[in-house]
Amino acid sequence: MSSSRPERSLTLPDDGAVPATDLAATLSTALADDPIPRGAPDPVWPDFGDHDEAARRAVAAVAAMLGRPVPDRPREPRTSSEWLGRLWDVDESTLVNVSRDMSRTLQRLHAYALQRWVDRHPDDVAVFGPGGAPQRAALDLGNGTSVSVPAVATVHFPAGTAYDTAVAVEVAYRYGTPTITAFTPPGGLSLAERVLADLTRTLEADHPYRGGVLSARPGNGTVELTPVRHTVQVRGDVVLPADLWREVDLFCSSVTTRRDALRALGHTTSRGLLLAGKPGVGKTKLTRVIATELAGPLTVVLVTAEVLRTWMTELYEEIRGLGPCLVVLEEIDSVASKGSRGDTSFAEFLDALDGTRSSDDVLTVATTNDPDALDPAVKRPGRFDTIIEVPPPDQAGRTAILRLFLPPDAPVDVDLVASYLDGATGADLREVARRSILEHGPEGLTTGRVADVATSGRWKPAPVAGNYL
Ligand SMILES: Nc1ncnc2c1ncn2[C@@H]1O[C@H](COP(=O)(O)OP(=O)(O)OP(=O)(O)O)[C@@H](O)[C@H]1O
Ligand SMILES: [Mg+2]
Repeated sequence: MSSSRPERSLTLPDDGAVPATDLAATLSTALADDPIPRGAPDPVWPDFGDHDEAARRAVAAVAAMLGRPVPDRPREPRTSSEWLGRLWDVDESTLVNVSRDMSRTLQRLHAYALQRWVDRHPDDVAVFGPGGAPQRAALDLGNGTSVSVPAVATVHFPAGTAYDTAVAVEVAYRYGTPTITAFTPPGGLSLAERVLADLTRTLEADHPYRGGVLSARPGNGTVELTPVRHTVQVRGDVVLPADLWREVDLFCSSVTTRRDALRALGHTTSRGLLLAGKPGVGKTKLTRVIATELAGPLTVVLVTAEVLRTWMTELYEEIRGLGPCLVVLEEIDSVASKGSRGDTSFAEFLDALDGTRSSDDVLTVATTNDPDALDPAVKRPGRFDTIIEVPPPDQAGRTAILRLFLPPDAPVDVDLVASYLDGATGADLREVARRSILEHGPEGLTTGRVADVATSGRWKPAPVAGNYL
């Protein structure tokens, strides 16, 4: 019938034109006087381009009004199960899927491992976008570099590629929670579980964050680890008593030089060090020196106070797979002081500390201003093995610290100046040096002038006598 009519176009909104002959062919099948014989091939639907869905619905509606059957049109799959059900030619409800919820970072990291699998079979895999086109995202590797990984996508590995059986891995969000899901054809539960475990193993074998310096911050309802730029700090930058350095060495040796011996004898290699001392004595600085020394062989995780209060359990979950770690917990007073007993965060904190002891290769360094204010439970052996008091510098220490912060060639008797500053902390001495430079310029420094700044107390942040406002 179509051949006897002049060809016309049906114009759809937005100028989507469909040749009327295609439409007519479809309608003629739907409207044929004789019912469509059983077993006859489905009428071929024309491609209506951008208006596919709307045009087909219109044709179907016309046919339905005329009481004619309309063949089901194969609609684009919307979900991974739908896509895979068709691919594997099974009912989607019989597919096996095993999902794991995780933090966004951990999901991205698994996606990174998934990308490694894809790279092994680039010509064989098919990628589907649940709910639309597959999406990719950048995984931050620190140092200004990032790598593209699947963000919302399902990757199909045909039989004989990743596994003997066909499997698929989906990176997606379920009710907003980042997930990784493994799919297999019916009956593949243990395979699906293996796929997830293998993916984690691939990640752990080549973890892009291992050996880096990471910051642990709250995000997306859990803790997120992100690489941070770390300024190198060496022992020469911080002046501390020799016996303190020996304790630091002993602490580190638990996962470095003495690690294998400890393990061979059945000991755990995890250790906790608590640095106690008044503000400004260099505790934070010391943690950064330890971080610099251990980063590389160990992954360093710097923990913010908020994580300390809320996400400790999740934190230790998250660092699994990063290999040996140094975890730096600053100012634990906020969760672990005597008054916090009974708080959930206090209990969680202790649990998390205890949790590390059951796993190997986690060094925890914490700092506090006032160890006496800490709940005794925190100081129980087995939580922190060593508590080091970081003292304010003695005369020799003060001299060395002043030398660090004054211009090296300044004609200043630093030993004499240091003798006026008994009890001053490293942070105080830095301020004496800085204030002297501000007042007199680096060339104008003399013993008398620096001594004057030191003894006047002008360097102290307390309000200065007199009203300047
Ligand atoms: N022993 C030291 N040797 C060299 N510099 C020091 C020393 N102590 C402190 N400083 C200087 O003071 C700065 C502040 O010290 P830091 O932040 O490490 O103190 P803190 O003990 O962590 O104090 P808080 O308890 O307030 O956190 C350091 O960055 C460093 O410049
Ligand atoms: Mg500090």
